Amino acid sequence: MEEKKETGRRRPLIAGNWKMFKTSAEAVETASALAKMTASATGRDILIAPPFTALQAVSAAIAGTGIDLCAQNVHWENQGAWTGEVSAPMLTSVGCKYVIIGHSERRQYFGETDDGVNQKIRSAIHAGLMPILCVGETEDQRKSNKTFSILDKQTLKGLEKLALGSLENLVIAYEPVWAIGTGKTATTEQAQDVHGYIRGLIEKNFGKALAKSMRILYGGSVKPSNINRLMEMPDIDGALVGGASLDAGTFSEIACYTAH
Ligand code: PGA
Repeated sequence: MEEKKETGRRRPLIAGNWKMFKTSAEAVETASALAKMTASATGRDILIAPPFTALQAVSAAIAGTGIDLCAQNVHWENQGAWTGEVSAPMLTSVGCKYVIIGHSERRQYFGETDDGVNQKIRSAIHAGLMPILCVGETEDQRKSNKTFSILDKQTLKGLEKLALGSLENLVIAYEPVWAIGTGKTATTEQAQDVHGYIRGLIEKNFGKALAKSMRILYGGSVKPSNINRLMEMPDIDGALVGGASLDAGTFSEIACYTAH
């Protein structure tokens, strides 16, 4: 707790990733309820990432509230013959402020590579979006002691050829793949350990100032019952929440965490 006070100059961010859930009408209903329930939560940023089809309607529903809009993916080109894809300028045009890039489900099921992730980050930054770069090891990689080398690769390749000045709005989300949607959460100590490592990696490669200001979120079975302990850790600046963000009541409990 002490340590957090000394280093904690980062504004916490609680992010809800709705994945492929909710029609536009359902998304608007949840977003509006959430905005009311979190109206008194100050000193933090709260965002929701509905599916593409709900972005515009949710954008209108949360206008003027404390909730920000985020997309779950983006293409690396601004426009072109890319059937089924959506570009960064299209996302900003409907009010997105953030975009999730390189989520493990995209890497695992849609073959996203670190190079592709890097291109997407560059495109997002160019359009003025704040990218949330997702990194994290699988269970096998953790068991075979490859956690840190995987994180090195995903983080440094993801941020390759990016100018230092362009990274100030980038957020990193550490999501151990084995903890996503499984109910298994990394212990707060395990999470803090990795967050400290990632911050050290940023410091080594991009300098102290960026390392100090960069927000690093934890993701993987975050719930109302574990958010406070996670937020007490000095290098955990927020959470990327999947399943528990789908219900306005549950997600507002997480967003209204009280730890300092
Ligand atoms: P979960 O998902 O909270 O359902 O584990 C987290 C994520 O995939 O971002």
